[in-house]
Amino acid sequence: IRAGALAAIGAAGNTGELEALRVQYLGKKGELTALLKQMGKLSAEERPVMGQLANAVRAEVEAAVEAQSAVLAEKALEQRLEAEALDITVPGRTHKLGRRHPMYTALDEIKEIFISMGFTVLDGPEVELASYNFDKLNAGEGHPSRDWSDTFYFDEDSRVMLRSQTSPMQVRAMETMELPIRIIAPGRVYRKDEVDATHSPMFHQVEGMVIDKGVTMADLKGTLNTVVEMLYGKGTKTRFRPHHFPFTEPSCEMDVQCHKCGGVGCPTCKGEGWIELLGAGMIHPKVLQMSGIDPEVYSGWAFGIGLERTAMRRFKIADLRLIFENDVRFLEQF
Ligand code: PHE
Repeated sequence: IRAGALAAIGAAGNTGELEALRVQYLGKKGELTALLKQMGKLSAEERPVMGQLANAVRAEVEAAVEAQSAVLAEKALEQRLEAEALDITVPGRTHKLGRRHPMYTALDEIKEIFISMGFTVLDGPEVELASYNFDKLNAGEGHPSRDWSDTFYFDEDSRVMLRSQTSPMQVRAMETMELPIRIIAPGRVYRKDEVDATHSPMFHQVEGMVIDKGVTMADLKGTLNTVVEMLYGKGTKTRFRPHHFPFTEPSCEMDVQCHKCGGVGCPTCKGEGWIELLGAGMIHPKVLQMSGIDPEVYSGWAFGIGLERTAMRRFKIADLRLIFENDVRFLEQF
């Protein structure tokens, strides 16, 4: 038994085989156990001799099982290490990292500034009703801005459209929010413009609006001047020019000083020294009234700022097309 067991155990190739052998020799129904059970048939002199021998064999077989088990574990570990080994000489894969777009950096800065002044940021639909984009903003039937040549309509009777400005968010805020209101609403807008260095059929605006008792044009100018200084640095000059929008009265446009003006022939401002940044004004009493706000009690101002332009001024970008191309060589510069 001893010789057979030790040879078989030493040759066991895996733990399953080894366990089967252990049971075969040492188990309750194993060969050694069977032998010990027959001890009663032996004479009194033979019994201790046989008992000793059997126990010695048992101990030896047990030790052999243990030793082989260790050998197998070692082998298994070696195999695993081999299988899982990394070849550290293989060249790595390069991960291409994206870049935050400069326009979104500018938007984040604008949001931060207005949030710090107590404004709420709103999000609204790009597919808009013409009633919100025009009628409720005092641009009724026949207003030139409603023209098919300027606006992307979805239907024949010009009721659903891609918004041409973020100003419908003024109306949506007035209709849904408690007074006083302080909001900004950034988003995409669409106009039938050909692509060139300053135009694109899709661009971004940030609408801003304040409605409260006793709000004046001075508040509008003061707020926008503060925002421009926070965005472009202390001492940056602005200029307000009279303008016309159907939904504000009086209306104005705000210019900001050209940042790289070489005077005559400057490519950014065409030598004028100023860049137009936004439209603004005091909300027209009719607009307040149409949205259920009493213009005798409340007044408000609003502005709409071009986000691409703001980013171009902020990061000294000369051509609008660079903003939309997303060339990494461009994006990596910011
Ligand atoms: N919506 C105007 C535009 O797109 C900008 C504007 C917004 C003007 C709010 C006045 C008040 O040109």
